[in-house]
Amino acid sequence: MTIRPLDNTDAAAYQRLRLLALRESPTAFSASYEDEAGRALDDVAARIAPAADGSVCMLGIFVQDELAGFVAIIRPQRAKLRHAVEFAGMYVAPAHRRRGLGRALLEAAIAHACSLDGVRHIKLGVNAANTAAVALYRAVGFERYGTEPDALCVDGTFYDEERYLLRMGDGLPTGV
Ligand SMILES: CC(C)(COP(=O)(O)OP(=O)(O)OC[C@H]1O[C@@H](n2cnc3c(N)ncnc32)[C@H](O)[C@@H]1OP(=O)(O)O)[C@@H](O)C(=O)NCCC(=O)NCCS
Repeated sequence: MTIRPLDNTDAAAYQRLRLLALRESPTAFSASYEDEAGRALDDVAARIAPAADGSVCMLGIFVQDELAGFVAIIRPQRAKLRHAVEFAGMYVAPAHRRRGLGRALLEAAIAHACSLDGVRHIKLGVNAANTAAVALYRAVGFERYGTEPDALCVDGTFYDEERYLLRMGDGLPTGV
């Protein structure tokens, strides 16, 4: 397997996998399939383009040259917020699950965030009912710091969002 930042040459593969994600795991993401299905490829390419300073990056994981998963790494531009990186939209295709790809991708994303000067912690939100993702985040050391009730509404059902944080201190967290 290979892990690397996606770029504009990956736009079509990313869009295919992103639409699969939104169709098959609608309660895992705040975007909906309908929001994203009509997005032009140029727009997708711009969305996944990595920032030169590493502050925005869509990290992809490939199995035999096929995109199998991704996670977005977003560092705010504002000076008062730049110490906290957000991860979003983590996904591994069903055919590749439970083989360690999610953990490898998350650990690579953590290493990327750690490489950015001045970053102190990483935050993310997860549907409280998403036991697989919660188990993965906890396994690499994320700790829950809050819950937003009814944050997500999918087909009339409300879901709480749990907020998780990984403190980095002076380097990679223990176990990564
Ligand atoms: C959550 C997700 C990314 C996990 O990817 P994955 O490649 O299957 O994860 P891994 O194989 O690396 O698993 C790592 C650890 O996560 C936990 N885990 C993963 N899937 C799990 C499941 N179905 N049930 C319980 N724990 C699970 C386990 O602790 C696992 O370690 P183990 O295999 O040694 O028990 C994947 O299931 C997914 O994309 N789901 C749909 C989208 C989604 O929920 N995204 C997260 C949005 S916040």
